[in-house]
Amino acid sequence: MGNGVKKAILPAAGLGTRFLPATKASPKEMLPIVDKPMIQYAVEEAERCGIKEFVVITGRHKRSIEDHFDTIFELEENLKQKGKENLLREINSLSHLNFAYIRQGRALGLGHAILQAMPFVKDEPFAVLLSDDIIDPDESLLQEMIGLYNRFEAPVIALEEVPEEEIHRYGVVAGEWEDGDIFRITDLIEKPSREEAPSNLAIIGRYVLTPDIFKILDGMEPGRGGEYQLTDALKGLLKKRTLYGFRFRGRRYDAGDKFGFLKATVSLALKNSGISDAFGQYLTEIVEELRKDVARQP
Ligand code: UTP
Repeated sequence: MGNGVKKAILPAAGLGTRFLPATKASPKEMLPIVDKPMIQYAVEEAERCGIKEFVVITGRHKRSIEDHFDTIFELEENLKQKGKENLLREINSLSHLNFAYIRQGRALGLGHAILQAMPFVKDEPFAVLLSDDIIDPDESLLQEMIGLYNRFEAPVIALEEVPEEEIHRYGVVAGEWEDGDIFRITDLIEKPSREEAPSNLAIIGRYVLTPDIFKILDGMEPGRGGEYQLTDALKGLLKKRTLYGFRFRGRRYDAGDKFGFLKATVSLALKNSGISDAFGQYLTEIVEELRKDVARQP
């Protein structure tokens, strides 16, 4: 089976208001989880699926992302001289990938961000990865979505069942189960109230899309919150073709806000061979302290 998806769009032009003041002068996507910025986890995930071409949609903090994926000669020389081969390998691990950067002048929404990539993607299918949704590196969500795209030649959107009280934070879909985790979408609604939500299936930050979405994005009016919503464009696309959802049941870290970011940090630190033992020990001690505090309370 051929892999028709060769390019990925990484939107990173949002204002990141939930992380202020950290995101005042650097993008949320560059906040590190353990030792890598969030955007690098997304790049590595796409790379594991054979994607080598990336277009990053940047806002006003363009430089730090560009520098991160660039070769830094001075640093390399320094590591070479000091014999730090492991670190050298680590910083060059993505040097075979190609990155293009496109500026979104104003943060007018995810749909608008994706539209900026049109000249780069042209008429090919593409993946979209939102870096603040971190998929556990042991999972193969995007690979499975690309497999479905190859099978149906239709857009595929990652879905997750979320608790009722969280549904208002997501785009939500209506539709029917086809086979296992494959869902045929019949409607989409952005950030519905509990009453409006047609299901508990929320759209999470992985998409495999077809280039016909660009025409719809181009002709769109702003939706909820005055933003050009990708969910609205997908609803438009639904009038023209079948859209599939794929239910993800694995581990996802919603690192777009502080609590989720901390959970991602703890979980990924516990998976990091360099520090997992010491960090696990430290966590055990902290939990012990917390237990004692609770026991002491009257
Ligand atoms: P979010 O909805 O998380 O918004 O964007 P945000 O601005 O990053 O963060 P908050 O809500 O203010 O804290 C989802 C993804 O879409 C990108 C963001 O960078 C993030 O990866 N995005 C959003 C854009 O690239 N441009 C936009 O105009 C909006």
